[in-house]
Amino acid sequence: MEAALQRFLPAPEIAPERLHRAMRYAVLGGGKRVRPLLCFAAGELAAADPARVEVVAAAVEMIHAYSLIHDDLPCMDDDVLRRGKPTCHVEFDEATALLAGDALQPLAFQILAEHVLADSPGAQIEMLKILALASGSRGMAGGQAIDLASVGKALSLPELELMHIHKTGALIRAATVLGARCGSGLAPDEFQRLERYAKTVGLAFQVVDDVLDCDASTATLGKTAGKDVAQAKPTYVSILGLARARALAEELRAEAHAALSPFGAKAARLRELADFIVLRKF
Ligand code: IPE
Ligand code: IPE
Ligand code: MG
Ligand code: MG
Ligand code: MG
Repeated sequence: MEAALQRFLPAPEIAPERLHRAMRYAVLGGGKRVRPLLCFAAGELAAADPARVEVVAAAVEMIHAYSLIHDDLPCMDDDVLRRGKPTCHVEFDEATALLAGDALQPLAFQILAEHVLADSPGAQIEMLKILALASGSRGMAGGQAIDLASVGKALSLPELELMHIHKTGALIRAATVLGARCGSGLAPDEFQRLERYAKTVGLAFQVVDDVLDCDASTATLGKTAGKDVAQAKPTYVSILGLARARALAEELRAEAHAALSPFGAKAARLRELADFIVLRKF
């Protein structure tokens, strides 16, 4: 994945150098790469060509990196630390960080358009649409808007779930679905099960992110701990408390496993990833 991302990103010596350096800084050398891993695991389930999956995984990770750059900007969460390094706008400057995010987003779609990823052009256009929907106002960006509008508010559980499903769940679901779409090995009911898995681990991912924000240290997270309370963000911890938030993550892990039950050994990687997403310490 690191090598693929290196290849797809503009070289640092190509003009505009500062912008390209900022894009590479935000994408390379850090991050758990959970979304690419989900792409590959779902691709394996659908007997997809790994060369196709690599492109899709890189595209999703570029959208994710862009979302983190913008999430950290002073106008959003105003964070100074990301993946154990200064955030992009601290290392460069705000305008460059804004543009690095702006440039990563279309680059993701460019690489999806430049490679053959499906057996028909129509199926490939469908894949571009899945990433567009997951990233836009009905997906990640919309979730971020709900997040910013919810500061200081006590959301109900359904409202909180809606926010999390959009800001984090949408891209995780897209990563999984797109990995599977690189292959053609899934029957419609199998695809539905995979989608249920993806939706469940997508929500679990943000529940655990909320737990870790108040439960782990800045050193292990590589980002500032305790930010959600400091910024009065409604989270699963603020609404359920730490113990019930952890218990919910555990329930979601069981649900994700249940969705995969008929797949047997072919879904081993997806099971491992559900475990990692819930049991991770960073
Ligand atoms: C952090 O995502 C932002 C959320 C959507 C919760 P990750 O925890 O996947 O961040 P990296 O990629 O590992 O740095
Ligand atoms: C970020 O959620 C979600 C996206 C970037 C889309 P958070 O604001 O909780 O992520 P962290 O905790 O800063 O990584
Ligand atoms: Mg945020
Ligand atoms: Mg944040
Ligand atoms: Mg967080």
